[in-house]
Amino acid sequence: MSNYHIKHLEEYFQVYRKSVRDPENYWEEIAEEHFLWHKRWDNVLSWDFEKPEVKWFEGAKLNITENCIDRHLRTRGNKTAILFEPNDSSEKAQHITYNALHDKVCQFANVLKQQGVKKGDRVCIYLPMIPELSYAVLACARIGAIHSVVFAGFSAKALATRINDSDCKLVITSDGSYRGKKVLDLKSIVDEALETCECVENVLVVKRTRSKISMKDDRDQWLAPLMDAAEKTCEPEIMDAEDPLFILYTSGSTGTPKGMVHTTAGYMVYTAFTFKNVFQYTEDDIYWCTADIGWITGHSYIVYGPLANGATTVMFEGVPSYPDHGRFWEIVEKHKVTQFYTAPTAIRALGKEKLDFVEKYDLSSLKVLGTVGEPINEEAWHWYDENIGKRKCPIVDTWWQTETGGILISPIPYSTPAIPTFATLPLPGIQPALMDEEGKEIHENQVDGRLCIKFPWPSIARTIWGNHERYKETYFSAYKNMYFTGDGALRDSVGYYRITGRVDDVVIVSGHNLGTAPIEDAINEHPAVAESAIVGFPHDVKGNALYGYVILKETGETRDRDNVRKEINQLISERIGPIAKLDKIQFTSGLPKTRSGKIMRRILRKIASGDTSNLGDTSTLLNPEIVDEIMENVLK
Ligand code: WT7
Repeated sequence: MSNYHIKHLEEYFQVYRKSVRDPENYWEEIAEEHFLWHKRWDNVLSWDFEKPEVKWFEGAKLNITENCIDRHLRTRGNKTAILFEPNDSSEKAQHITYNALHDKVCQFANVLKQQGVKKGDRVCIYLPMIPELSYAVLACARIGAIHSVVFAGFSAKALATRINDSDCKLVITSDGSYRGKKVLDLKSIVDEALETCECVENVLVVKRTRSKISMKDDRDQWLAPLMDAAEKTCEPEIMDAEDPLFILYTSGSTGTPKGMVHTTAGYMVYTAFTFKNVFQYTEDDIYWCTADIGWITGHSYIVYGPLANGATTVMFEGVPSYPDHGRFWEIVEKHKVTQFYTAPTAIRALGKEKLDFVEKYDLSSLKVLGTVGEPINEEAWHWYDENIGKRKCPIVDTWWQTETGGILISPIPYSTPAIPTFATLPLPGIQPALMDEEGKEIHENQVDGRLCIKFPWPSIARTIWGNHERYKETYFSAYKNMYFTGDGALRDSVGYYRITGRVDDVVIVSGHNLGTAPIEDAINEHPAVAESAIVGFPHDVKGNALYGYVILKETGETRDRDNVRKEINQLISERIGPIAKLDKIQFTSGLPKTRSGKIMRRILRKIASGDTSNLGDTSTLLNPEIVDEIMENVLK
């Protein structure tokens, strides 16, 4: 039996039992055999979900980039580490070997040092999906700086909030980014953001699109000449197991984003272990995850997990629809991709296009398919299985979160029999629990509940940057001694889990996690808006789309409502980013409220979804008559 690589169902059950019976021993054996340490840990695990505090491998010393790069050089120096596929298919792909990756990361690390970046400093990375993004992330880790990658689709305001929240002293960006036919001007977004960020001393700019940009004399520098002048070796900073590795922001139920803090050793061990098993990665495979490194999926399963296993990981700059809807499949054929990991929203969008786009390409290299980010519907699952996997590739429906760092519930290919829409079984070390509304654990099967995790795993986020109280409140106060995920789930008769969706005020749109509160805050800035409430409603490509109920101020003047709708979406784009725009905006004279003044979102959600059959008891509302008005004017 191998703890590290599970190859069949019996082995999974054995390993799982062991991991629950003696978690410390289980993870200790894996940590010992598969990673490079400068010093061994004194203690495998200490934890207290009340405080909350979790520490894995305390006392150990390591550098994650040595594990992801240096230790592979002897045996895999000339193997491709990162396979970069540009936006434009006519531009050549780049095969970046482990040797080359080592040199680039060391050069970049030396540049960061010259800019005055030290261990523990925060560095904001706002880049498109180009190799420099991976170099930047790893260069920070090399010198012990904490990276905070912000997805390059976020607006200047959203970027500024994130830079200020974690007090970043350096920003790494590019002149622009290619997204299909579009060229986006990233640098001017950074310039605008920095007008309100005093903490930033320097900006490094990668040349990508050669767009005309302005450089601020004493602040901005082009990266390339600095890289060229830098040494290709850089001694790794020796880090403590629990030193922060990165901050990654995720939206929550209230205004400001939460800077989830992940630490070094546990995150490394868990992402490497899950990468190996969930994708059944073997030495000559070509693995491709289509996510952006701006999200946790990219951190864990484009960069750290694959590289810790010495894998070849594809990085794609573009979009699935450019130059046409066959782009993904063209790349699979071209690079003989063996594992393909994407989001249900992409599968649904591509499934709507002509099958010619798929059939033109040879997809026979594929072995394992994965999905992540939101529940996958049965139709999309079957389309994926039949047309992409040709019914011979296991599909792994992987459930996890920014906060969990790595995949917690997922089938193991060739071991766990898959059932469409089920994430199936917990991975080793993961102890899920379903809770009822009274706070009691549900032990029976075949029921719905709120999904919690009872025991810490190595890659759980340790805190929210600068706000430990909020961390406690959000994840550890709903149920005593449990991590609460915010998701609902069903457990079937054999113990398989099916994630049913968020039970809080977060809506997942095209796989992006969006808190409704920050969107409402943005809308309420509109001078004509008095109040607003946002809910999600089912959408056949995006999974969910956003529906806004908006009360206008009574000013006596009449406004063109379509104009107000446009202005509202414009505001949302500026404050958050285009991904948070509303599909439908209904103007209303009121919102259903409880006697304590809380908006009854449950009712609004049902109306927006066109499901008014069972609105529940509305008589306890402060203003029950508003429900009829809203139903009458609902936008179809
Ligand atoms: C939320 C976390 C984890 C990487 C991407 C999203 C939803 C995620 C699944 C899945 C059903 C899923 C959950 C979760 N989610 N994977 N396989 N089936 N729902 O990370 O932005 O932190 O979002 O995504 O609702 O809580 P995130």
